[in-house]
Amino acid sequence: MRISIKAQAGLKEFENFVVLESKEGENFSGRSLPERKRIAGIRELGDFTGEAGKSHLFYGSKSSRWLLVGLGNKAPFLPEDWRKAADQAQRAYSSLGIKKATLLLSEEADIFELVTGLILSGYSYDRFRSRKDHGKRLSTVTILMPASVNLKQANALRRKAEAHAKGTLLARDLLCAPGNLATPTYLAETAKAIAEKSGGRIETRLKDRKALEEGGFTAHLAVARGSDEEPWLVEMDYNSEAEKTLVLVGKGLTFDSGGISLKPGAGMEDMKYDMGGAAAVLGVFEALAKLDLPLRIIGLVATCENMPSGRAYKPGDIVTSRSGKTIEVINTDAEGRVVLADALDYAKEFKPDFMIDLATLTGACVIALGGLTAGMLCNKKGEAFRDAMIESGGKTGERVWPLPMFEEYGEQIRSKVADVRNTGGRAAGTITAGKFLQTFADHSPWMHLDIAGVTWRDSDRAYIPKGGNGFGVRLLLDFIENAEL
Ligand code: BES
Ligand code: MG
Ligand code: ZN
Repeated sequence: MRISIKAQAGLKEFENFVVLESKEGENFSGRSLPERKRIAGIRELGDFTGEAGKSHLFYGSKSSRWLLVGLGNKAPFLPEDWRKAADQAQRAYSSLGIKKATLLLSEEADIFELVTGLILSGYSYDRFRSRKDHGKRLSTVTILMPASVNLKQANALRRKAEAHAKGTLLARDLLCAPGNLATPTYLAETAKAIAEKSGGRIETRLKDRKALEEGGFTAHLAVARGSDEEPWLVEMDYNSEAEKTLVLVGKGLTFDSGGISLKPGAGMEDMKYDMGGAAAVLGVFEALAKLDLPLRIIGLVATCENMPSGRAYKPGDIVTSRSGKTIEVINTDAEGRVVLADALDYAKEFKPDFMIDLATLTGACVIALGGLTAGMLCNKKGEAFRDAMIESGGKTGERVWPLPMFEEYGEQIRSKVADVRNTGGRAAGTITAGKFLQTFADHSPWMHLDIAGVTWRDSDRAYIPKGGNGFGVRLLLDFIENAEL
């Protein structure tokens, strides 16, 4: 989708207009419209009320199309309202087979959120389909603003929104790709490609199996043993000269069969999404390549497959992790935390001022919080960042909510034969998984986001498609842009 912003008074040479109005009749077109009498008539008839999620198409005097889109009645409007309105406009026109539209916007309209909503709307993963739906979206959108507008500022917002949204699209493509395409090696290659087109802003370093062996990543390698796919630790480095360092760690299980503790067959296909954390980190770096931010940001993607085989790690095995701490494997399906143990430990090499990991870590989180919010768990020093993350979640719609990390929860993962065991029983499964990670993350201020419930969905919701949705990319970017480390 090509989006451009123009500032001019006349409507000549434009077509397929979009006008946003609230329930109270507030109009965000920033101009006196030739069709304002007709719009008043439509409102009088009650055919358009300004309700959120509703739109109305009519034909203007010069055989032009006009789409009224409702913003709802909650002035001041929230970011979500603007994104949904953009989605509504995109859907209404593209469903008619129309490719080009013109948004008439005042300076009060939220350009950033509208552009975000436009780009995220109508996503469909079409790579393996003969019938392509993604291409049915609007291809060209002109945002027409009053002549008085500060175009430079408006374009800066457009570019920022494009970076955030396209990072999300990259994450969606990685998530939706089947496990036989999006292998660990594919994730590593994607990271390399992001660095190559970043104009020197990002450096990607890759650790292959041999480098992982030499680096002592025994826990990561233990999980990878059952699979014929090569494991990788992907390291991305943005702005390496900056003073403060943020480390992002993503769980990248490109398929989680459960291993020897094999999962039931029903729904197992969804475990291709078990790289949601990795997809989010790669999506963030895709965006960072286009953004100027004052932080050093390290991205670590710990990736492999979890498969059963004669070489696979087994329940009862004891694994010595990179940190030196030993892990008793109770259940090979609790593999994410085992892989992350080494990545989180490795992160200390960068002396992070803050470290965030994202992982589709526990089914228990889906039960606790459903699909509406990710679980957020922190160590003591990480708690300072809780409010800022919740705020970014509210703004982006990628919500996070805290769970407690009382010390006593750690008792559930004590082992009789090793330093820690990889499961803590059914009670508080998300928290005990967090406690396990904390064992390896406590060297720095740290936050864990369990995104098991939010990374993919079974049904469409406005600009969020069913399937993998790229949760975390916009959340983290907003957090990074506002963070004070
Ligand atoms: N990848 C799964 C968690 C998951 C489950 C994500 C459902 C999304 C939806 C993880 O590796 C896993 O299998 N966790 C186990 C842990 C248990 C064995 C302690 C789980 O949640 O059942
Ligand atoms: Mg598992
Ligand atoms: Zn998993």
